[in-house]
Amino acid sequence: MTIRLPGLADVHAHLRVPGGEHKEDFGSGTAAALAGGFTTVLAMPNTSPPLVTADLLRRVQQQANAEALCDVHLYAGASPAHTDELPALGRAAVALKIYLNETFGPLRVTDLSTLLACFRHWPIGKPIAMHAEGPGVAVGLGLAAAFGRPVHICHVSRASEIALIAAAKARGVPVTCEVTPHHLFLTQANVPRLGPLGDMRPPLAEPADVAALWAHIDTAIDCVATDHAPHTLAEKHSENPPPGVPGLETALPLMLTAVADGRLTLDRLVALLAQNPRRIFHLPEQPDTWVEIDPAASYQLSNEGLLTKCGWTPFAGMTVRGRVQRVVLRGKLVFEDGKVRSDRDVRQRHSQDKGGRS
Ligand code: DOR
Ligand code: ZN
Ligand code: ZN
Repeated sequence: MTIRLPGLADVHAHLRVPGGEHKEDFGSGTAAALAGGFTTVLAMPNTSPPLVTADLLRRVQQQANAEALCDVHLYAGASPAHTDELPALGRAAVALKIYLNETFGPLRVTDLSTLLACFRHWPIGKPIAMHAEGPGVAVGLGLAAAFGRPVHICHVSRASEIALIAAAKARGVPVTCEVTPHHLFLTQANVPRLGPLGDMRPPLAEPADVAALWAHIDTAIDCVATDHAPHTLAEKHSENPPPGVPGLETALPLMLTAVADGRLTLDRLVALLAQNPRRIFHLPEQPDTWVEIDPAASYQLSNEGLLTKCGWTPFAGMTVRGRVQRVVLRGKLVFEDGKVRSDRDVRQRHSQDKGGRS
């Protein structure tokens, strides 16, 4: 059986350009995106150097346009030293990312005056997304309420956080949020087995937190986003392992498994992975674009055959139901049977066909 879904949009991925190309680049990251049914990816600004000036962001966007296999839009990073760049960055970026808490890379905002500058000078109509954990969520909600402008809370992972967001939404605060598959499918109980491969920010939580996220999957949660954060196995097994796990290739199979298990409907999956991301981030339409899946295919996720450069997944060994068969982007077949169809492949096939291959 084949079902057609719209092209998915991941509003939270780390594609590592510039400066981290040994972990991922636009070619490998968007190949992984297509393998996972994503035709649009929003890339995070905690690169080296970070995307905190309009000049750099424009150059990196040009590189993405040249190298990516699907549509890539870039976040600008908020930085206390570059608040004067906010209006120009606002014209070039899809959204602003504010890191309130410690995570990979140096981007961080801890002072109120920089937060005020962001809310005053970031263009109205362009979203502001926040890495905010614990009480940081209340900071984001307070700013959304005070300025009356939408805030998107990234990777919500705890029962208290989703409870606070649900309460703010009920009061009419303009807030949206995302959860990641790793926070929906893994807990602290998996950490002894996974070791550094189970370390990310926010960290894995307790079963009660995971239950609270699932309890809000039809209501307070707006998007499922991957937080695809590839690091090499050597880096993850080093003395000072960086936080983060890849997720572009496993998000859709995991969420389709949840549909098969009756935890959400396929319509809700499409809302969380395509419609809401496109609406919240004002993403352009992709005409003649779809993903064909076999919802009945049952198989084990594996490190073998992944297209992400990092070559591993924390979900290896997990049995899932639902496989991406084919992806069509703007009328062109771009992924089929586990492989990306680049222009070159398509051209080669055409010339072979003309040459009378039987
Ligand atoms: O685990 C994480 N890794 N959380 C983040 O916020 C950043 C990310 C990364 O860039 O590796
Ligand atoms: Zn984050
Ligand atoms: Zn992230």
